[in-house]
Amino acid sequence: MARNKIAFYGAGNVGATTAHWLAEKGIGDCVLFDIFGQVASGKALDLYESAPAIGFNSMITGSNDPAIISGADVVVVTAGIPRKKDPVTGKFPSRDELVKINQDVITDVARNIKQYAPDSIVVLVTNPLDAMCHVMFEETGFPRERIIGQAGALDTARYKAFIAQELGVSVQDVHGLVLGGHGDTMVPLPRHTSVAGIPVTELISKERLDEIINRTANGGGEIVGLLGYSAYYAPAAGTAIMVESILMDQKRVIPSAVYTQGEYGYSDLFLGLPCVLGRGGVERILDMELNAEERAKLDYSAEAVRAVVDVLGYKK
Ligand code: NAI
Ligand code: 2OP
Repeated sequence: MARNKIAFYGAGNVGATTAHWLAEKGIGDCVLFDIFGQVASGKALDLYESAPAIGFNSMITGSNDPAIISGADVVVVTAGIPRKKDPVTGKFPSRDELVKINQDVITDVARNIKQYAPDSIVVLVTNPLDAMCHVMFEETGFPRERIIGQAGALDTARYKAFIAQELGVSVQDVHGLVLGGHGDTMVPLPRHTSVAGIPVTELISKERLDEIINRTANGGGEIVGLLGYSAYYAPAAGTAIMVESILMDQKRVIPSAVYTQGEYGYSDLFLGLPCVLGRGGVERILDMELNAEERAKLDYSAEAVRAVVDVLGYKK
């Protein structure tokens, strides 16, 4: 049987670290592509040279030629320009300027994916996440099942980590999910969070839970404040579990950004919802009842995503 081929479009921090998790688990052979110098070849070789020590059999190669992604089963897209100061003006780009910059990057990425990996499932990570999924969807014309945004896997992992830390219990016994857009309007759902089946609302006071929810929503900023650049271990881990569920057909339920067509009352918008991920990509979107407060928060989050999507200028 042919091995899975996983392409990494962008071999920066998140791309290369995702390749690391997946190669080590033997989920497939990994190819890294990046436009910056020889970085993809260098990281691929370095990672491959770790295989004898760790004991994994995935092949890892890299190139600055996008043709290396040819025939990939899954393409993980992390190519993008981070928000950084202009060295001449000393100013940060506005949010809208950054949207336009990364829209151009993702448009270019989409063209290459269409050419070299037309049957692939795309797992997209580049920010602003939900809007960049929209660009990928518009520019590839792929069915919605094959364009999946990574955000909920990371946001949910952060949320669970903070709860486990608060209670001094194993992260493995914390269950829950975070829906909505990837940003400070995301919607952690305490009513649907449990520790080994015990509702978390019986274990942690409302005040502390609100603090945990707030910390989760600002989790990206917390890491940037410490590191000076974006998080990558947890984002890469979130991306890796999505790719693993797809390629191993695990059908795990992972909150993922998916193009809505009426689900939860939303349409024509990528939004984080509970998705079943398998060999077909997003195989199902699970429905759940939300109370008025949860619904209002999800509506607010969807509006925030819509405002960024409007900047893209696609016809409605
Ligand atoms: P990074 O700067 O380390 O890596 C980005 C890579 O993309 C660089 O190596 C760059 O050379 C490459 N690149 C830029 N334009 C390209 C193009 N046209 N073709 C090929 N490669 C290109 O950034 P990092 O930390 O890996 O983050 C990547 C993206 O993921 C950023 O947009 C970041 O904001 C986003 N992110 C999203 C998360 C999420 O949960 N959705 C979490 C963490 C990061
Ligand atoms: C994060 O949440 C910046 O989206 C990135 O860490």
